[in-house]
Amino acid sequence: MQYDFTYYNPTRIHFGKDSLNYLSSELKNYGSNVLLVYGGGSIKKIGLYDKVIAILKECNKNIFECPNITPNPKLKDMMRGVKMIETHHIDLILAVGGGSVIDCAKGMSVSIGLEDPFKELWLKQKDVTTNNIPVGSILTMVGTGSEFNGGSVITDEDRKIKMGRVFPPHVYPKFSILNPEYTYSVSEYQMCSGAFDVLSHLMEQYFSGEDDNVSDYLIEALMKSLITSLKVAIVDRENYEARSNIMWVASLALNTLVGKGKTQDWEVHNIEHQLGAYTDCAHGMGLAAISVPYYKHIYKYGLKKFVRFAENIFNVDPQGKTDDEIALEGIEALRKFIEDSHMVLHIRELGATEEMLKDIAYSTVEGGGYKKVTHEEIYGILKEAY
Ligand code: NZQ
Ligand code: ZN
Repeated sequence: MQYDFTYYNPTRIHFGKDSLNYLSSELKNYGSNVLLVYGGGSIKKIGLYDKVIAILKECNKNIFECPNITPNPKLKDMMRGVKMIETHHIDLILAVGGGSVIDCAKGMSVSIGLEDPFKELWLKQKDVTTNNIPVGSILTMVGTGSEFNGGSVITDEDRKIKMGRVFPPHVYPKFSILNPEYTYSVSEYQMCSGAFDVLSHLMEQYFSGEDDNVSDYLIEALMKSLITSLKVAIVDRENYEARSNIMWVASLALNTLVGKGKTQDWEVHNIEHQLGAYTDCAHGMGLAAISVPYYKHIYKYGLKKFVRFAENIFNVDPQGKTDDEIALEGIEALRKFIEDSHMVLHIRELGATEEMLKDIAYSTVEGGGYKKVTHEEIYGILKEAY
């Protein structure tokens, strides 16, 4: 440990095959008017919508619906929800879906009464008041950790900006219901995208700092579990052990615990968010395509940690090799993992065009861990990723 911190996470997690049974007891804590927020219909296909509606009716709730929240949730859809909250005096927002739905619900919860919430809360990062509308979540797609944190990533299509904000604990979901079986119907593409998002969250927190930090050991354990379980899930989609491991690793990877006491990077995410603003690509696939060129660009500045990553995560044999060679072999193993897991290695496959690259690079926030990268360096990384 190096840095002081305060850690508090108020989200109650109900995990497992029977976790939906806890919904009615959670609902008792809130008033009658519930806004059900969901995406493009997957929850109807898997029968979850009907089950949730039945429980809400049993609990005598007035149900209002805000469907069609898209991946990379858009400001206009968030504002649609805000309007409904104001009109119907909503007491609880129940988000049923993946990270996009939950992020959007949190955004709605803090934006009541604001004229331009994106400008005030995301661009200017102004403080939020504590009279936000409570959010509860039922997770159906694994990756973001949104079910266990205060993150809310919203895309303002007019401004062409996709931006994340981490809200304080009173905005975290009050409860989250996690049943790995709900994730069986997620396509292989989205499952792998979500899995890379998890790995990226772990790498963003790992590749920074040189001190002996308990957080790095925790992160290594989570990375190993994720990689092992994903290999199983790709060939055996309904393997409960693998899917439940991936689900819990995802939640632990970004409930902010494993990043405590150390510095972090997050530049791969900064770049991906702008790639997403221009292409609307799947978040994890964008991260996969950017990661290898990004880490090749910065590894020399954090050589010791990249050597440790190669040896501990991808079992690279250090015998007779220089640190440089070991580190690069680790990054090559990461590239191979991306390839073997049918993830994307080139941003042109995600809809990026050569003409876009400069705009994406120059609209990305400059930052980083071992090395602060400039807009020009980001442009170079994007050209490598192209
Ligand atoms: O819209 P529906 O029909 O629900 O379909 C979704 C969507 O098309 C589908 N899906 C979800 N559950 C399913 C399912 N399909 C079949 N069966 C199911 N059970 O999956 C597609 C992708 O869903 P989405 O919610 O967009 O994916 P994800 O969970 O990866 O969320 C991505 C968003 O979260 C943000 C990303 O930037 C992106 O906007 N992030 C949020 C973070 C946070 N809150 O802390 C951190 C992350 O780094 C990330 O930036
Ligand atoms: Zn992410």
